[in-house]
Amino acid sequence: MEDSLNPRGLNAAFGNDPAPLPLFQRWLAEAGEAELNDPTAFALATVDAAGQPSVRMLLLKGASEAGFVFYTNMNSRKAGELRGNPKASMCFHWKNLCRQVRISGSVTLVSDEEADAYFASRDHASKVGAWASLQSSAMASRGEFEQRVMEYRAKYPEGSDVPRPPHWSGWLLQPGEVEFWLNADARLHERLLYTAQADGSWSQALLYP
Ligand SMILES: Cc1cc2nc3c(=O)[nH]c(=O)nc-3n(C[C@H](O)[C@H](O)[C@H](O)COP(=O)(O)O)c2cc1C
Repeated sequence: MEDSLNPRGLNAAFGNDPAPLPLFQRWLAEAGEAELNDPTAFALATVDAAGQPSVRMLLLKGASEAGFVFYTNMNSRKAGELRGNPKASMCFHWKNLCRQVRISGSVTLVSDEEADAYFASRDHASKVGAWASLQSSAMASRGEFEQRVMEYRAKYPEGSDVPRPPHWSGWLLQPGEVEFWLNADARLHERLLYTAQADGSWSQALLYP
């Protein structure tokens, strides 16, 4: 019989929000309690000019009505692919909660002010590392990289101000779709898909597992 308080028949963990952000924030907070480490970790898929997808793990650094923010090296493979094709997908998997969230949409660069503010919040060693790493470029030896780290440690000693490197910034993914997935017995999982509408509202659909 249909439950009048829960007409969709979904697990209470999905709540009843008209937009996906509150549910995402709830699940992320619950992951922060339940997961061993890195609850903000997600896989980011991008696509190159030949249509070849590539995927890698990143850490989420912001979630708001504007979208989902991550930071990286602007000379990296992912950044090149995003410049060529600003469409991307994110996938969060919270193992202890047996939950997945998939988000897809378009990316834009965050403002310099926003990137500066986030970079300033990083610890000194991470700031120096951002200068030293030519992320995703080939290097001759590990020693070559260690040499660069030493040079930048000398340039920016502990306690000194480290400016944000010009090749380091963030992207904002504005979601067009957000899908929440919850494990259920016998693989009868539950899926709720939010799709952005032209007027700014969201439609909702339940999907077969
Ligand atoms: C848990 C985890 C979190 C990571 N977070 C970031 C991140 O926030 N930014 C980043 O540039 N790379 C991060 N990395 C490294 C990336 O997975 C990847 O190796 C790097 O960004 C180069 O990717 P690309 O060559 O596809 O551009 C992380 C790796 C792991 C395993």
